[in-house]
Amino acid sequence: MHKAIYAIVAAGLCFPLILAAQSGSNVTLPQDKGPAKIDVSSYPADQQKAYKVFADKCSKCHTIARPINTTMPRPDWERYVKRMMHKPNSGISDSQGKTIFEFLAYDQENRKDKNASAFFKSLSDDEIEKLKAQQH
Ligand code: HEC
Repeated sequence: MHKAIYAIVAAGLCFPLILAAQSGSNVTLPQDKGPAKIDVSSYPADQQKAYKVFADKCSKCHTIARPINTTMPRPDWERYVKRMMHKPNSGISDSQGKTIFEFLAYDQENRKDKNASAFFKSLSDDEIEKLKAQQH
């Protein structure tokens, strides 16, 4: 009887923490403030389709501006897409993750690498934690 009450209270206390940890919107990164779309009109047809998957799936927890304005080498994008896929409730399947990675790699080479100073390097976990602390 008492155990059940403790369990309910504990669940109630943890719930907001779980939500906060999943939302990803509890911190604003510098890249979130950049443009929130890419002109893909000159991209190959399959990449234009992939852009839609990317824009749909990668805007669930933070603004789509975040990945649009972050520059990183191709292998880091592979790692990053996996990291995002493995977050709770990401809603991204393996095949969608692959499509998104291929789009990000193409976009990196054809848009970001040509104008690298216009974009933000990805932040380390420590840097993100520091921003969080400043914003709360
Ligand atoms: C389930 C929620 C969620 C989804 C879906 C999601 N992200 Fe994220 N993303 C986060 C969180 C939370 C962070 C903050 C850093 C961390 O906890 O890893 C983040 C951070 C980032 C960053 C910041 C990099 C840096 O360190 O400066 C990039 C880029 C990014 N996400 C790209 C993507 C891409 C691309 C997708 C789609 C494949 C995506 N995200 C989908 C939650 C999500």
